[in-house]
Amino acid sequence: MSDLKNTGQGKKFSRRDFLKSSASAGLSAALAGGALTGTSLSGKTQEDKKPAELKVALIGAGTQGRVLIESCLRIPGIRFVAVCDIWEYSQRYASRYLKKYGHDVNVYEDYRDLLSQEKGLDAVIVATPDWMHAEHANACMEAGFHVYCEKEMSNSLAEAKTLVQTARKTGKLLQVGHQRRSNPRYIHAIDRLIHEKNILGRINAVYAQWNRAKSDMLGWPKQYTMDQGKLEKFGYASMTEFRNWRLFKKYGGGPLVDLGSHQIDLFSWVYGVNPSSVMASGGIDYYKNWQWYDNAMAIYEFKTKKGTARGLYQVQTTTKHGGFYEAFMGENGSLVISEVPQRGNWAMREAHAPEWESLVKQGYLKSEAPPIQKVDTKNIFLDVRVTAEAGRWPIPVEMAKPAHQPHLENFFNAVLHGTPLNCPPEIAYESAVAVLKTNEVIETRRYLRFRPEHFKA
Ligand SMILES: NC(=O)c1ccc[n+]([C@@H]2O[C@H](COP(=O)([O-])OP(=O)(O)OC[C@H]3O[C@@H](n4cnc5c(N)ncnc54)[C@H](O)[C@@H]3O)[C@@H](O)[C@H]2O)c1
Repeated sequence: MSDLKNTGQGKKFSRRDFLKSSASAGLSAALAGGALTGTSLSGKTQEDKKPAELKVALIGAGTQGRVLIESCLRIPGIRFVAVCDIWEYSQRYASRYLKKYGHDVNVYEDYRDLLSQEKGLDAVIVATPDWMHAEHANACMEAGFHVYCEKEMSNSLAEAKTLVQTARKTGKLLQVGHQRRSNPRYIHAIDRLIHEKNILGRINAVYAQWNRAKSDMLGWPKQYTMDQGKLEKFGYASMTEFRNWRLFKKYGGGPLVDLGSHQIDLFSWVYGVNPSSVMASGGIDYYKNWQWYDNAMAIYEFKTKKGTARGLYQVQTTTKHGGFYEAFMGENGSLVISEVPQRGNWAMREAHAPEWESLVKQGYLKSEAPPIQKVDTKNIFLDVRVTAEAGRWPIPVEMAKPAHQPHLENFFNAVLHGTPLNCPPEIAYESAVAVLKTNEVIETRRYLRFRPEHFKA
């Protein structure tokens, strides 16, 4: 596994880039200090001082593009100058929204026009469907721009590999959108509690799931139907496939890639190694009109420093039972976490484990919630706490920002200061291998033993 993972050894910045970025010292200070409190959505500070600006373009202004816009608008000094999208609906939505917050953007249909006309860009955010990531992000880096590219790097490993190679060749930064890697709650849980304080002892099993209720295919406002010629020009067979690209093999990587990649990525972060093997099963068992499987279960093996350990992952698209979360289970306790803290944000201690009170005193954990007990009070049963094992020790770190903001801040800080990226392409590639190879296992109904070369780009 690459040693870049959150270790402060991310890609270095060239001198030319540094000189260019040092012109934006005002923004540097704002970002470096994480000085986002007191910042309005319009990007103005409370003192109404205008910070220096990083000029940013967005390619792909759909659902996730808009989520990223929202987060960027909260970061002082980020100025959108251009938006590219092939669909008029997305173009209008994003450009009008940005205008409302004072960002007047040039609008493009074809990314090649954006790259040939927008010469002063500092960075490009790519949030198009997975199958276009490599083409778009490679072209941006080749044009001299740093890139924040949504996950998955690609729905093809060969194309994902080109992204690592282009970043290396051009010296441009490429942050891939596995945003949990910059989430302070996850960093505290994994780097501080699990790795530094070893609160779980030897971890033998990890589990994660993403379960969603059943859903219909996405539609679109009929006045925004693209004609067949235009759809084909951009590689889409129909409006249905264009809107529901995730369900089709040409454009997406299936639910394990779409949802699971965020979480299977954490298995490797926790264990400190990539998986050594995988077995998996999945199928199109419910929906009639999907090309990808609609449910999957995968079991990974990891050869960790402490011994063999396993990870179980499942994704369901016909039930929201349990929602989405990750659980790391060790001999001395377990830790449950989710991007939505209500679903997971605590550690649980085994009765025989070393004490955790000193960790509370040092601020690593909050005090254990009292155990639940059933007490008979005149035939009325009240929930009170029973055993130490049932108690939860909350993770004391709060994340008061939208989920993607810290990952974007980490990227913009890297652009300005050369500080390490939390998800550079080498790390994202390892994650892509773990999920895209599992798709092959599901397809061929075979067991796969990973070799170290699989993870090298
Ligand atoms: N990190 C996360 O948590 C997260 C969450 C959701 C989606 N995503 C990722 O974000 C990306 C976009 O997903 P989405 O849900 O926004 O999809 P979407 O279909 O809502 O949006 C995609 C947008 O890209 C545009 N587009 C398609 N082809 C294009 C092209 N060739 N050139 C320019 N624009 C093009 C579409 O018109 C649309 O506006 C995907 O890679 C997805 O995996 C990440």
